[in-house]
Formats: sequence, C-alpha cells, structure tokens
Amino acid sequence: MLSSKIAGIGKYLPANVVTNQDLTAYMETSNEWIVERTGIQERRYAHRTEETTTTMAVEAAKIAIERAGTTAEEIDFIIFATLSPDYYFPGCGVLVQRAMGMKEIGALDIRNQCSGFVYALSVADQFIKTGMYKNILVIGSEKHSFGLDFSTRGRNVSVIFGDGAGAVVIRRADESETDAPGRVLSTVMGTDGTLADVLKVPGGGSACPITPENVELHPNTIHMEGRETFKHAVTRMLEASQQALEIAGLTAADVSLVIPHQANARIISAIAERLNLPLDRVFMNLDKYGNTSAATIPVALDEANKAGRLKKGDVVLLVAFGGGFTWASSVVRW
Ligand code: COA
Repeated sequence: MLSSKIAGIGKYLPANVVTNQDLTAYMETSNEWIVERTGIQERRYAHRTEETTTTMAVEAAKIAIERAGTTAEEIDFIIFATLSPDYYFPGCGVLVQRAMGMKEIGALDIRNQCSGFVYALSVADQFIKTGMYKNILVIGSEKHSFGLDFSTRGRNVSVIFGDGAGAVVIRRADESETDAPGRVLSTVMGTDGTLADVLKVPGGGSACPITPENVELHPNTIHMEGRETFKHAVTRMLEASQQALEIAGLTAADVSLVIPHQANARIISAIAERLNLPLDRVFMNLDKYGNTSAATIPVALDEANKAGRLKKGDVVLLVAFGGGFTWASSVVRW
C-alpha cells in the first residue's frame, strides 16, 4: 500500500517583531496580562503592503521544496490552508502556482482556520494513498495583522495573533520505504458547527455584507468568546490526539514529541497533563510568534527539526483546533 511522508519543511516569519509592550500603545493591556493568560511575549507582523499571505507562503514553500530535494516543476498538487487569504477569491493556492511558475496543476484552498494545516495534511495523505499524486505542496500561511481590532474592545483577540507561514512537501513512500522519516501513520478530522458563532469573522460574507451602517462594529475582524474557545480547545484536542494514536495502534506513552497548535500555553499544558506527558515532550514556540493559525504547526515542525527534536523512529503527534469549531490530529513516525 502507498503511504505518504513529510519530505521537506520550510518556514517564513516576517522580520517585524511586535512585543506585548508595543501593543500597549494601541489598547489598554499589559505585558504581564498577556504573558500570564497566554504565554505569548511577542509576535511578527508582515509588512503592510509588501508581504501578503501568499508572498510569505512562497518563501516557506521554496525552502520546503529545496529541502525535499526537488523543484517546483515536480510538484503535482498544491493545498493551501489559511483564514486570511489575499483575496476573497481567487484562493492563495492559485497565487502560489503563479508566483512559483509551476505547471498547471490543481490548487485547493482549505478553509478550516487553525486546524487548516492538519486538514490539508490529511487531504494530501489521501491523494497520495490513492496513487493520484506523488509530490504535494501543503502550506499554512496567515497575515492576521491586517484584520485585527487594535482598540481596547478587540484586545482579547488582537494580542493573541501573529503572522507567518510554514510549508511541507508530502511525498509518496512506496512499500519498500518502511522506515522513511516523516511517514504519516494516521489522520483524523472533526467539526462541531453548533459552535460556529463562538469564534468567527462575522462580516464580509453573504450572510452579513459590510455596509456603512455596520462598519463601525468591525465585522471584518475576528470575534471570539475566549473562555468557551479555551474549554473546547482542550477537550477536542485531547480527543483528536487519542483517536489519531488509536488508529496508528499507539498510545500517548509512545509519543516522543507533541507539536500542538500554538494558541495558548495554558491550553497546551492542559492537554499535556491529560495525556500524562511531561512538558519536555511538547513543543512550544508561541512565546515568539503568538497564534499564526494554519501556520503554527508547520512552523513548529521546522523549528523542532532544526533543534534536533525529530529523531529517527520518534512518534510525533500533531494536533490542532480552530474556529468552526474544527479539530484535527495526525501521527507521524520520524
Ligand atoms: N489585556 C488586558 N485585559 C484584557 C485583555 C488584554 N489583552 N483581554 C481581555 N482582558 C480583560 C477582559 O476585558 C476582562 O476584564 P473584566 O474582568 O474587567 O471584564 C478580563 O480581562 C478577563 O477576560 P476574559 O476574556 O474572561 O479572560 P480569559 O482569562 O478568558 O483570557 C483569553 C482571555 C483570550 C486569553 C483566553 O480566553 C484564551 O486564550 N482563550 C482561548 C483563545 C484561543 O485559543 N483562540 C484561538 C483558538 S484557535
């Protein structure tokens, strides 16, 4: 049977570092509040005009493709996860195809918010398993900084999010490659649409067009009930992790490293505790980048790899949660 493996990883973070202290110029907040409630110390903001969700994605993709020892011409499909696309349409996948001068391959945009990258990984895994494609470029990229409410009213949301991009090349592994690093052993996905209103960008779609009458309410920015989101994030990420491990025939005790969606240090600690895993087996970099939604997991994968934390034979658990609510998890053998 065909299986897929992560063959190359890349990331791109904008150079502009925005500290918690910097945010106090716009809203009533403090470094202490943000660090204590979230663990975030700073985040990156893309250049207002020169960097977009797509330009950051392209930089991450170039690195992932090079590290996979291939070229853009060899990619047969693009899957792009984002909640902050350059345009309402066309999607960012198409823009990557153009920017990288790729063949006229298929490009699919995934709209599953912070779970988007793991959803995209799962979709790629299916296309590889059917034999349809051999090298799939999977991207998670976000430019949140353009769509946040920087007034005190929006502070519970705006302090959390940052910009950045991560990309991987998912490649077909044939039967002889039973010990190839980065093999995807399982993926699971879930949603609960009854909670769709808890975390969303309410305006700008067909249900609530932006009008002169409602523009003052900032309907085009992220609205979130923080506590409700927190509670469900812990429960669903735990469930998804357990399901993905079970499908892979493993338990939490087998996990060498968890790479969770980077939303909040307290959410991550709560999941580690419930999985009975010490924090040194959990990767965290949200202190530097905040929540970059679909980009958190590929960025963290890249940094874990660089830090030598993905060793041969390691069981790596990826798990994400986002607006929708949506959640997803995957077990990868390094
Ligand atoms: N700085 C200072 N005070 C803030 C603040 C900020 N940035 N944001 C909110 N507050 C205030 C509130 O106004 C409130 O004040 P009040 O008690 O006078 O009304 C108080 O802090 C508590 O607000 P609350 O929203 O209940 O705080 P919280 O402890 O739930 O923390 C979050 C807020 C957003 C940090 C937390 O709920 C969270 O992380 N939730 C999950 C978010 C998440 O992961 N989202 C992405 C999922 S993909």
